[in-house]
Amino acid sequence: MTLTSMTPTSQAHEISAASRLEHVRYAIRDLACVADEVVKQGHKVLPLNVGDPLNFDFQTPPHIIEAVYKAMRDGKNGYSPSSGIPEALQAIRGEAARKGITTVHDVFVTSGVSETVDLCLSALVNPGEDVLTPSPDYPLYSAVLCKLGIRLNAYDLNEDDAWQPELADIERKVTPRTRGIVLINPNNPTGSLCTRQMLEQVAELAHRHNLIVFSDEIYDKLILDGTPHIAFASVAPDVPCVTFGGMSKNYLVPGWRIGWGIVSGDAAAVKAYTDGVNRLLRARLCANHPEQYAIKPALEGPQDHLIEVQRKLRSRRDLTQKWCESTPRVSCVAPRGAFYAYPRIDIPESDEVFVKELIRQKHVMVVHGSGFGQKPGTQHFRIVFLPDEKTLTKAYAGIAEFMRERYGNA
Ligand SMILES: Cc1ncc(COP(=O)(O)O)c(C=O)c1O
Repeated sequence: MTLTSMTPTSQAHEISAASRLEHVRYAIRDLACVADEVVKQGHKVLPLNVGDPLNFDFQTPPHIIEAVYKAMRDGKNGYSPSSGIPEALQAIRGEAARKGITTVHDVFVTSGVSETVDLCLSALVNPGEDVLTPSPDYPLYSAVLCKLGIRLNAYDLNEDDAWQPELADIERKVTPRTRGIVLINPNNPTGSLCTRQMLEQVAELAHRHNLIVFSDEIYDKLILDGTPHIAFASVAPDVPCVTFGGMSKNYLVPGWRIGWGIVSGDAAAVKAYTDGVNRLLRARLCANHPEQYAIKPALEGPQDHLIEVQRKLRSRRDLTQKWCESTPRVSCVAPRGAFYAYPRIDIPESDEVFVKELIRQKHVMVVHGSGFGQKPGTQHFRIVFLPDEKTLTKAYAGIAEFMRERYGNA
């Protein structure tokens, strides 16, 4: 039978997507359609929207590329054990010890922290339950919860307190059906760091309400002000916690898709949950196999690249901050980690319109604050300050000019 003879004469019924997906958004990449329009008109768009250091002047440390190449040549191209290869798991346990996490119950390797987020949330929540997520947050958390059909329960970060979590808001939003709380530290999109006192207060609250803490520390080696990063699990050894870490940012290989989870806390309290995570790990077979051979040399080998990365990021952060301070209608809490700034803007239209028009008129792509969450009545945009100083200076001049032309000076 030919395809033509199978095709019904009446119009085919549309295959609809699950209604759960209605609220799944990923503003960072959703803007690509607007950028495509501009590119089709022959312009080059400067991508200050995606946190990929490899788009700019950052290079993967060669010794970890060699490790993956060798693994491939040595035939490590089949499936790996579901939780990861033994030498990577041992190296991650070593990393946990260096982070001061003393009550490690389990570790596992995933296809990027993105998969850790998906697995850890999926393994926790039943219909009708919820997880507290920061606002603003990295949008994958809300996207995964929407996919699972879970009601969003966002708590505010306080811009007037260097974007620290607002404890009173968390307290207000905990319900008997709340199962966990997400911390992103250093934070994307704000670049803020949690203070030790804040971590202790979150630990006390999590303990009191029987919550598991998901501490996303994917940027823990990209601290820009010389202070040490404090792992949540190191200040709260008994609180059930999964610390998320990975290779994408610290080791400059976002395309390899390697992340991990470190389960810590009271062993009896986390046992059933850990069994659930491992069931999901087995069901999806394994993370990328040859890339796992880079984990040990990355975590235990030379860390020299980090000195250069931090030097560049510090200089670019300072330039960004200076621009924010000297530009009418713009203000910004100085980022202390990662490579994002989240300036507040005083404009008479939505930040989504601002961002789309900025792409169309000046070919600079940033992401609107409403794509991450923000308090009603406030508007922001997120800048990725990875490009070199010359490129950033040009981009910031374009943004300032756009604001002057569109809104006039405040
Ligand atoms: C806070 C945060 N968590 C997780 C991820 C996902 O990282 P991965 O590349 O390991 O999936 C990102 C990526 O930008 C991020 O910013």
